[in-house]
Amino acid sequence: MIRASPSPPSNRLPRPMTQPWWQHDSHTVLDDDILIDGHSLTQLARQHGTPLYVYSRETVQRQLRKMQTALAAVRMPHRIYYAMKSNRHPGVLRAIRDLGDVGIDTCSPREVELALAAGFAPEEISFNAGMLSTAELAYLAASGVHCTLDTLSGLRRYAALVPAGTAVGLRFNPGVRVGYGDNPKMAYGDSKFGFEPDGLEQILETVAALGLRVDAVHMHIGWGLTQNSVPQVAKAFSRLAEIGRQIDGLKYINVGGGLGARYVEADQPLELSSWATLIAEILGPLGATIWCEPGTFVSASSGMLVVEANTTEARRGVTWLGVNAGFAINPNPSMYGIALTALALQQPRAEAAHAYTIAGNINESGDIWGRDMMLPLIQEGELVAFFPAGAYGSSMASDHCLRGKASEVMLETIAFPIPAIQNVLAIAEQGLPGAGSCAA
Ligand SMILES: Cc1ncc(COP(=O)(O)O)c(C=O)c1O
Repeated sequence: MIRASPSPPSNRLPRPMTQPWWQHDSHTVLDDDILIDGHSLTQLARQHGTPLYVYSRETVQRQLRKMQTALAAVRMPHRIYYAMKSNRHPGVLRAIRDLGDVGIDTCSPREVELALAAGFAPEEISFNAGMLSTAELAYLAASGVHCTLDTLSGLRRYAALVPAGTAVGLRFNPGVRVGYGDNPKMAYGDSKFGFEPDGLEQILETVAALGLRVDAVHMHIGWGLTQNSVPQVAKAFSRLAEIGRQIDGLKYINVGGGLGARYVEADQPLELSSWATLIAEILGPLGATIWCEPGTFVSASSGMLVVEANTTEARRGVTWLGVNAGFAINPNPSMYGIALTALALQQPRAEAAHAYTIAGNINESGDIWGRDMMLPLIQEGELVAFFPAGAYGSSMASDHCLRGKASEVMLETIAFPIPAIQNVLAIAEQGLPGAGSCAA
């Protein structure tokens, strides 16, 4: 644990402004800094160095509460399993553990180990992955976690390792291509995942012959579902309902993850209320408990990545901005074409009037954060923050080019009252309280 950063000097108090699109309840935007849950990102960067991931515990819990509320509002019995593949920082897992009533979704034995170490009981952990070795299946069989499988090979080898009557989930491919924008990498319609629904009869015969029992059907159709994908999501839910109706003793319907976040201003993620209504209308009549596995929705907006600009240079008509982190720290832009929004951390209110192509420090031509990213004029040595950076950033990091890891900090909320505007002058004269803590 480290002590909180001191409160911001009075000349940096918040003043009325049009709220930037990316600002949420944990953000305070100052003239020369961004606070997360009351902590100065600039000071954290000075303290821990860059590149630095900063996560908001408050945001992780708020996102989960929103999801619980949305499902309760449509009266769906449910259980949420947070997909730890999106962010497995111990502070994130602790935030979820402390919230209670939320489980963890895992996709490898080591993720199961980490979930257990974080204090989740086996019955609070779900497992969902394919292409598993027999040794991995043996680990899962012994662990007691609920497994969802999507190959006959996996079912056969798993059945040989567990007592007769063990319950399993079956993952299906509802054959709907949908995901973030038109990005084909984000839609899993013809990917490696899931049984084909038209093989259901044979799959169920095999499961019965193996002595297993199906208690759950599952789908996960794409990353970053958008509001205009409602018709396809409805279609996928309908196909899952059709499958579920043919399974005796079905207890759970797992709709996977896929709820997104705003990565750029134009994004319109699938709204929680639309998602919950579709679940209630299409899957509700089956009478099963809804399981879901959100990753991005929970972790993305909890995180900022702070980097340092080291190079500005115009070449061939392009203004390049070099920063001290690349795809080894966050592969989303280069691997999946998902742009994050770049913010000038030390001048976040300044007009973003300059187009930069932001490049990382990995010796690969594809190490680009984004082209024509709009920022104020940036000086070498200035801090830049990428948002949202909480999902699939550090969890997918590599050590390519031996650039090392980013530091990571999970913030606890500082008891730092953001003053009402009319009180600002009075409080500024007296000084502000700044007690609180954050955990590295
Ligand atoms: C099976 C499964 N469930 C849940 C998730 C979490 O997805 P998201 O981050 O889109 O919510 C993933 C991510 O790839 C997944 O593969």
